Amino acid sequence: MLSVTNLSKHFGTHTAVSDFSLDVGESEFVTLLGPSGSGKTTVLRMIAGLLEPSAGQIHIASQDVTSLPPQHRNIGLVFQSYALFPNMTAWDNIAFPLRIRRWRAEAIRKRVDSLLELVGLSHRARFHPDSLSGGERQRTALARALAFHPPLLLLDEPLSALDAKVRQGLRSFLKDVQRTTGVTTLMVTHDQEEALELSDRVVVMNAGRIEQVGTPADIYYRPASTFTAHFIGRVNALQATVRAVSSDSVVVDWNGVLMEWPHPVNQSWSAGDTVTLFARPESVQVSPTQNPGQIPARVTHLSFSGALTNVHLRAGDTEIVADILSSQAGWLTNGAEVYVNMIPPKRAESQ
Ligand SMILES: Nc1ncnc2c1ncn2[C@@H]1O[C@H](COP(=O)(O)OP(=O)(O)OP(=O)(O)O)[C@@H](O)[C@H]1O
Ligand SMILES: [Mg+2]
Repeated sequence: MLSVTNLSKHFGTHTAVSDFSLDVGESEFVTLLGPSGSGKTTVLRMIAGLLEPSAGQIHIASQDVTSLPPQHRNIGLVFQSYALFPNMTAWDNIAFPLRIRRWRAEAIRKRVDSLLELVGLSHRARFHPDSLSGGERQRTALARALAFHPPLLLLDEPLSALDAKVRQGLRSFLKDVQRTTGVTTLMVTHDQEEALELSDRVVVMNAGRIEQVGTPADIYYRPASTFTAHFIGRVNALQATVRAVSSDSVVVDWNGVLMEWPHPVNQSWSAGDTVTLFARPESVQVSPTQNPGQIPARVTHLSFSGALTNVHLRAGDTEIVADILSSQAGWLTNGAEVYVNMIPPKRAESQ
């Protein structure tokens, strides 16, 4: 549906985006995720036609749109700050793109009414943006972006100006609307939770380049780089030595304990290599007595965070954080001598 090849953007001597290539399939929801300044908005603006690429091509539905002006790309756009027309009602804002496309009055009325229903704002149709809440304004902006049945929807941090509670509600709402309409969607965010929850695939960006493209589970459990491992969620980094390698797994020695670990994507490990294993806090098991494959550790700090208790541990020189269900953490005390092991990440089904 959307195909971007070797896209780059230079501002003077500064390279904002470098050699960015991505294919987005029909009805797919893909997110660009990365820290501030990593080039996310720049990529989106080039796809929208608001910024001219320094190099590369953009195809939408097999048509080369690289040098088409924005209005001829037929893209639905929603930005962080609600770019609604302040002098128009919600109804007229949504009707606007249809009027400029010269839809007939009756077709406009039907379409706008059904969009207002889709975004749950039928009762707000006659209000102006300044009488709408932030969440209602973004829902209006989304309805306006979808009005002319665009084949592609681009969203730049559409939820980030909203407070936490509204944002959470609008997240699942956005996903529902995307599923209902089946519109191919590319969204920019720097909120990792949002990206993991909403996306079919996530593109992790760092300093203008793609670090990794994968499903939320790939990105979370099988990060291809140290950057991705640390950027997405909390992680334990463990030094280990590779003892044996088979086609898709490796045997690693971590403090004298042998573990079978999936072979990382995009890397080639050999016996004898010193490597870093990444284990999420929820993949650390803690026991009061030593089971096979566990090493001794000491509890240095416990912090209760509701459903989970974060257990800080020290095993030799290594600091480890474990998330334990609070309902099962009652036996843990500061200073306790315990035993830990890591649950290796699952292999990707399709690799
Ligand atoms: N018009 C411009 N002129 C010069 N430099 C620019 C311009 N627009 C963006 N940049 C630079 O390009 C880089 C990427 O910017 P971009 O806005 O794409 O980042 P971003 O990932 O969207 O960040 P954020 O999460 O803060 O929105 C930044 O270093 C930025 O300063
Ligand atoms: Mg941005």
